[in-house]
Amino acid sequence: MALYSEKVMDHFRNPRNVGVIEDANGIGEVGNAKCGDIMKMYLKIEDDIIKDVKFETFGCGSAIASSSMATEMIKGQPVAEAEKLTNKAVAEALDGLPDYKMHCSVLAEEAIKSALEDYRKRQEK
Ligand code: FES
Repeated sequence: MALYSEKVMDHFRNPRNVGVIEDANGIGEVGNAKCGDIMKMYLKIEDDIIKDVKFETFGCGSAIASSSMATEMIKGQPVAEAEKLTNKAVAEALDGLPDYKMHCSVLAEEAIKSALEDYRKRQEK
């Protein structure tokens, strides 16, 4: 069996939603303690809906594929739904990741959570 699913390879080679949102109203940056890789997530939220999402990563192929898939999963969704996204759901949507690469998908989940937290803080102000 190939180490990586076709979906992982597809999202790694053609990552969706890479880049920066200049007028983002939720930005999150997280680092992976295990490998030192970094991910930054930008959200543009209007009326509680994630209108746009982009990411930048200094990370491995699995982190790129996970973030790409994760952004596709939350785009157009209400904030409450995006908050429920887990790294397991992202890995499942990618048809699985090798066990020792699961921590890479955590980076995507945490970056989204951190961006949503930033959005909430800005709303409170
Ligand atoms: Fe660092 Fe995958 S090895 S995120």
